[in-house]
Amino acid sequence: MVDFTRSEMNRFSYKEWKKYFSYNDRQRLEIDFSQEEELSQVVKKRIFPSIREFQKGEGSDGRYLMETVEAFADRHKVPEYKEAMKQFIREENWHSAYLKKFMDFHRVQVKENSFLDRVFRKLRRLGGVRCEVMVLVTAEMVALTYYDALSKNTDSAALKSICAQMLHDEIPHVMFQSYTLSHFENSLPDKLMRIILMEVTALFVWGAFRKVYKAGGYDFGIFLKENMGYLRQSIELSGR
Ligand SMILES: [Fe+2]
Ligand SMILES: [Fe+2]
Repeated sequence: MVDFTRSEMNRFSYKEWKKYFSYNDRQRLEIDFSQEEELSQVVKKRIFPSIREFQKGEGSDGRYLMETVEAFADRHKVPEYKEAMKQFIREENWHSAYLKKFMDFHRVQVKENSFLDRVFRKLRRLGGVRCEVMVLVTAEMVALTYYDALSKNTDSAALKSICAQMLHDEIPHVMFQSYTLSHFENSLPDKLMRIILMEVTALFVWGAFRKVYKAGGYDFGIFLKENMGYLRQSIELSGR
């Protein structure tokens, strides 16, 4: 498990986050498919249901999110947050595009309708920016174990490069969202809510994609422990 609580980035203001996202935007991944081979049917059946799900989830246009972000930015007088969040959404859309390229290479169709994605969107819209970010960061923390496990599922260098890029980008995302949550009160009931949200999400994700996790060396105990560990770090950052 990565420990990101000591990172310099945790001291970033929104202005600095904006700078970071602009900088990171210049380091986009060029996926090399020159050595890519056909995957076995067994591997395809194991990995693509979850890849299609994540491809859909990473591809949101963030329209409702931006409305809540604008209200927050005006209230807290941090106009840079709006641009930082737009850049963040663009980065997530790149993630979706990487996965789409991988799916295209292997002739796998995108998912039009996703139950998990719909549940997440509904949950996020229950409140303002705080609710959006709380749900969003839960998914991003689960993504950390997912891309780690996925990268160990095949010998595909293309997929490994995608997973490495995801992990490189997602850890700062968790810090960025945790910083926003630090603008709100973090009382015990708030923390409990985050714990329950993570537990329920982890149960769903394990139920749906455990084969990918198992092939990537995770059992349920390790999976839950890592996710709760990331949540503990995020709660620590939001309490600052
Ligand atoms: Fe992402
Ligand atoms: Fe993310």
